[in-house]
Amino acid sequence: MAELWPGLGGPNISYISSPPSETWRRTWPRSVVILGSTGSIGRSALDVIERHAGRFEVAGLSCAGNVERLAEQAVRFRPPCLAVLKAEAARKLRELLPPGYAPRILEGSAGYAELASLPEAGTVLSAQSGGAGLAGTLAAALAGKVICLANKESLVLAGDLVREICRRTRAVILPVDSEHNAIFQCLAGRGQEAEHLLLTASGGPFFGQGREALASVTAGQAIRHPIWRMGTKISIDSATLMNKGLEIAEAFHLYGVPPSRIRVLVHPQSVVHSLVEFEDGALLAQMGAPDMRAALANCLLWPLNKPSGAPGLDLVRTGQLTFHEADPEAFPALDLARRALSGRGGLSVVMNAANEAAVELFLRGAVGFLDIPRLIGAVMEAHAAAHPDAVGKSLTPALAAADMCELKNEVSVLELRIMRLDRHSRDAVCRLAEGDGGK
Ligand SMILES: NC(=O)c1ccc[n+]([C@@H]2O[C@H](COP(=O)([O-])OP(=O)(O)OC[C@H]3O[C@@H](n4cnc5c(N)ncnc54)[C@H](OP(=O)(O)O)[C@@H]3O)[C@@H](O)[C@H]2O)c1
Repeated sequence: MAELWPGLGGPNISYISSPPSETWRRTWPRSVVILGSTGSIGRSALDVIERHAGRFEVAGLSCAGNVERLAEQAVRFRPPCLAVLKAEAARKLRELLPPGYAPRILEGSAGYAELASLPEAGTVLSAQSGGAGLAGTLAAALAGKVICLANKESLVLAGDLVREICRRTRAVILPVDSEHNAIFQCLAGRGQEAEHLLLTASGGPFFGQGREALASVTAGQAIRHPIWRMGTKISIDSATLMNKGLEIAEAFHLYGVPPSRIRVLVHPQSVVHSLVEFEDGALLAQMGAPDMRAALANCLLWPLNKPSGAPGLDLVRTGQLTFHEADPEAFPALDLARRALSGRGGLSVVMNAANEAAVELFLRGAVGFLDIPRLIGAVMEAHAAAHPDAVGKSLTPALAAADMCELKNEVSVLELRIMRLDRHSRDAVCRLAEGDGGK
């Protein structure tokens, strides 16, 4: 099965992890933990799991506060362990569960980390939204799990660290994000001949609009993605193109290629999920209906190819496929993301946190759409000016720990450093927005 894996440590592609063990591949049913099961990705994953009931056991599910939905899922899949964000949510969840079913209920970041490292689960789907997903991804990586990674922010915040932990613990990353999953499939057996990775972007709901028109768009309009049905935060990221910016960082860390070899193509039909350009000039594309169940099934069932629930793609009905350059003036987030990546660890954390804070302010109507990249850029500038020596260096240098216990301690120190910078950058965005007097 190594032939289905992108190259490891090669000159053109150096994939983030080795393939899963023979034992994992041959053991059915697979025992799965889903971090963020109540979200868009989590629900699609449970749909895939239900279609292949004999192949999976659900060991754990989690949400932040949507305990009604979590209770419904728990009753259906009966995992022995659940996790929520706060004690109050845990109390409500307990009340919603039927007599005779009393799973362990874990709480907070430590609870998600414990869920991600349950000994009985070999597979963890990391699908919480935003930087909050980092704790679960790190815990799963430390525990040597096969991680189906939807939470791209984990790699934006700590890609170097995740890569290093995978090397130490033999944890495996299977990319769920449709673009990265497409590239993963295109690279099977041909990794070292790859020249460029071409990430497609739908362009979001405002594709083709200039800065002037964007100044007055509302959160309601920004959330309405023309093609994909996704969670709120990623929908706004799609509208600003920050989602594609985060995905450049995700591709950089997953495939070990420099940003100059990662290109973005706006493709509004969203049926070409991404492409790889090879040395001989050939382009390999992975295509399909825009439905995340396809990528989820590819990861959860890897290396099997089975029905996912995603409809087939009728190319005649799809009609014309078009590709465009992104407009950097209307959508500056892409350039910000490239700048953050060249500034390495610290600047990526600042950018990601600033983006999350600015998106929250936009959703509350406190700032306008164009303020999102403006605030991110301002906070990144301030950080780079205040820490000129840190630019270009990783925030998480190579790990020195000799054994597992030291490794866990070292990772938690680095995680704390990331979370402190994250908090600081969010506060900076709020201060800046308040100083502006809002919109
Ligand atoms: N949706 C897509 O098509 C898609 C595609 C590719 C990649 N992704 C990535 O997958 C991840 C999830 O996206 P999504 O669209 O599924 O998001 P979503 O619909 O907003 O769901 C997020 C999930 O995370 C939980 N959550 C939210 N805040 C949390 C916190 N502070 N701590 C712990 N859990 C928290 C939510 O619980 P509650 O329900 O209780 O709030 C929910 O279960 C994101 O990183 C996104 O970029 C999504």
